[in-house]
Amino acid sequence: MARVDDAAEILEQINKVRQVRQYEDKPVPDDVVNQLLEVARWTGSSRNTQPWHFIVVDDREKLRQISQLRTPINWVADASLAIAIVLHGENENSEAYDEGRVTERIMIAAHMLGFGAGTAWYGDDPLREKAKEILGIPAERTARSVVAIGHRISAKDPRPNPAMSGRHPLSEIVSQNTFGATRKG
Ligand SMILES: Cc1cc2nc3c(=O)[nH]c(=O)nc-3n(C[C@H](O)[C@H](O)[C@H](O)COP(=O)(O)O)c2cc1C
Repeated sequence: MARVDDAAEILEQINKVRQVRQYEDKPVPDDVVNQLLEVARWTGSSRNTQPWHFIVVDDREKLRQISQLRTPINWVADASLAIAIVLHGENENSEAYDEGRVTERIMIAAHMLGFGAGTAWYGDDPLREKAKEILGIPAERTARSVVAIGHRISAKDPRPNPAMSGRHPLSEIVSQNTFGATRKG
């Protein structure tokens, strides 16, 4: 495949993808949701098992109930919608990996389309069970998270205990050939 013309711009935008927790009270158009679902569908997975099902949640009461599962995700109530990721529940490790991949792709696609997105985890087992009840998810399936989507107001973390912002420099997280050996170049 030929090099993408605007690769530098695309990479710059990928680096700008943030966890968005503050949204305007405005719907996300259906064609945008469809594009996000198509990106989700094309995500690679372990042995191409595609171990997922996606629930588009735009029912305000369900979004509110999910947001109430635990305080760190209370901002989900303000999202226009959420895409709940439901895994087959057949391989814990690979499905957790696949869930991370599809989450990130949805977040990147939302950003590229001019929207904001954020991952929200339900919490421990009892909270996951509650989430499954809210969304009518069969008992044998795994459900851990939604990706909230909406018109971004800000990517500032408004929670009383915000997560650390920024990233570690490459010099702290990259080695060459041997763990801890300084990378040249
Ligand atoms: C496994 C996982 C769980 C997360 N859980 C929450 C959460 O419960 N609430 C929340 O607001 N953000 C949650 N996040 C988002 C992280 O806080 C966010 O990715 C991190 O702070 C970096 O944000 P930034 O890209 O905006 O800098 C979670 C992220 C991951 C990968």
